[in-house]
Amino acid sequence: MALKRLDKLLADMGIASRSELKQIIKSGRVTVDGRAVTVPDAKFDSESCDIALDGKSLTVQKFRYYMMDKPAGVLSVTEDRKQKTVLDLLPQEQQRMGLFPVGRLDKDTSGLLLLTNDGDFAHRVISPKSGVEKLYLAVVDGEPNEADVQAFREGIVLKDGTECLPAKLELLGNSCCLVTVMEGKYHQVKRMLASRGKPVLELRRLAVGELEVGENLGPGGFVELDEKDLCKVIKDFVMEK
Ligand code: URA
Repeated sequence: MALKRLDKLLADMGIASRSELKQIIKSGRVTVDGRAVTVPDAKFDSESCDIALDGKSLTVQKFRYYMMDKPAGVLSVTEDRKQKTVLDLLPQEQQRMGLFPVGRLDKDTSGLLLLTNDGDFAHRVISPKSGVEKLYLAVVDGEPNEADVQAFREGIVLKDGTECLPAKLELLGNSCCLVTVMEGKYHQVKRMLASRGKPVLELRRLAVGELEVGENLGPGGFVELDEKDLCKVIKDFVMEK
């Protein structure tokens, strides 16, 4: 049983800031198991209590999951003193949830970025052992060919000797190709294509597992994911309630 201050519990749910919540609680709008609680530092276990605001029950969702269409030009880290991060693109409510990016996309890479506060989920998505495929669309200098497809299939050895797992390269023509990898080494896709003499000019992540970013979110757009969406990433995923 984890007891937490009522104002902190509600802040963690992203309801409002701690100072706003103190006022909300003092005004009697919050009930716990049906009784008004007006003391912000009263402690409760959110998993065993029914907490409600203005009569509406707040189900405590321990972990949150979002998909963002990361624009090129922002860092996929939680904070940076000089440069804009993906967290800066989120509203205050989401900024208070302790979200972090699941793996990294380079600053100049766009596309599907998962954000969560669930470390185990992030680990499962990133770990090559889980076999979660990441699909990228690359525009390169040059024209990838069948020999490149074969080299990807056999497992590229990078210029520094790093061995990559077998990957899939699909030729689209006009210097475009699709790359599917199951691991996330530093600058992996760029280095794999560079090792074949086809430097990447543009890179966009289209999908993680079977979850696709699509074009509707738009650059910097984001959406909360439910269990059904998350099962597209990890087939047997069960969301903790
Ligand atoms: N591979 C890269 O080279 N860059 C990315 O951002 C993602 C995968």
